[in-house]
Amino acid sequence: MDATTAPAPPPAYWLRDNCPCADCRDPRNGQKLFQITDLPEDLAVAAERPARTPSGAPAREVVWAPDGHVSHYPEEWFTAAPAGDGRTEADKETWTADALRDRLPEADWDAYRTDAGTRARALEQVLRLGFVVLRGVPCRDRQVLYVARSFGYVRETNYGELFEVRVERDPNNLAFTGQHITPHTDNPYRDPVPTLQLLHCLANAARGGDSGLVDGFRAAALLREEAPGDFAVLTATPVPFAFRDARTELRAERPLIETDPLGRVREVRFNNRSIGTLRLDAARLDAFYAAYRRFAAILLRPGLQLDFRLAPGDCLVFDNTRLLHARTAFEESGERHLQGTYADLDSLLSTLAVLRREGAAA
Ligand code: OGA
Ligand code: ZN
Ligand code: ZN
Repeated sequence: MDATTAPAPPPAYWLRDNCPCADCRDPRNGQKLFQITDLPEDLAVAAERPARTPSGAPAREVVWAPDGHVSHYPEEWFTAAPAGDGRTEADKETWTADALRDRLPEADWDAYRTDAGTRARALEQVLRLGFVVLRGVPCRDRQVLYVARSFGYVRETNYGELFEVRVERDPNNLAFTGQHITPHTDNPYRDPVPTLQLLHCLANAARGGDSGLVDGFRAAALLREEAPGDFAVLTATPVPFAFRDARTELRAERPLIETDPLGRVREVRFNNRSIGTLRLDAARLDAFYAAYRRFAAILLRPGLQLDFRLAPGDCLVFDNTRLLHARTAFEESGERHLQGTYADLDSLLSTLAVLRREGAAA
């Protein structure tokens, strides 16, 4: 390799900020012991030579000017791939209905409970595909909370620790009627939004009441491909969502499609029932409504929505920042009862990471 193709030396502040020595990081917990402002103004590498880690692996020793600090970096650390946090489209396998119709990601509850490998595979499906169906979950009252606590923490809201999805006499939400519900994400009027939702089926004997899921990241990617201008409008327009009943008044203003600083899709919010009134100038309203209508049409496109039917004992666990869920209308005279709760992806991903660390490879 000649000088023109040699990799640029790592930036001094980056390298020093990552010094793993016991003066720089508490060996008991790996947490950093200094402030970025503690580093010298004229920080530079004074000398660099090959070394070995205590276990004998190749390493690099760096001596720093002006303070004479010495750092040791394992060679493999320099070439580690960027990890990502698992939340953007970069870490997902997006899907259309055809891809999953005959292979719904699912796991048997008893195996999930007793076998770390099954548990890791099930949680991995939520990370990659956005959902998993746990089968054979006992049809017991409040069991859904136990499912949430198997990987994380229940997010209590104004609906309570759990919510009953069944016909109610004075419903504060259309979910609690027999009406058809089009694909939506839950609670976009809340910030932070619950990033996971669970629906545990206790009874589904009514005619109708079938479930549907749409991959919102796939739909967003289609919009970006087919109408990049509309995609740009939706990522840049804050949309007011609101919910109110006698005891509650919630609002949050977020875009329908949220991208990370690198432009990758990270969250989708879509709920025709709780979208509020946008207050923008006429030109921006026109642009928003054209884009909103196009995105909505993509979400309803045949082929995108995966249809299935929950049976008693099924518990659907899904990513509420990515998947939209729907259900067909059902006869209010028949018995249909789900218990739902919210939880969050951070703890699910943590549980998965620990399972992997312990060797329960997914
Ligand atoms: C909900 C909902 C779907 C269903 O409660 O948020 O969308 O299958 N329910 O009843
Ligand atoms: Zn150090
Ligand atoms: Zn819902």
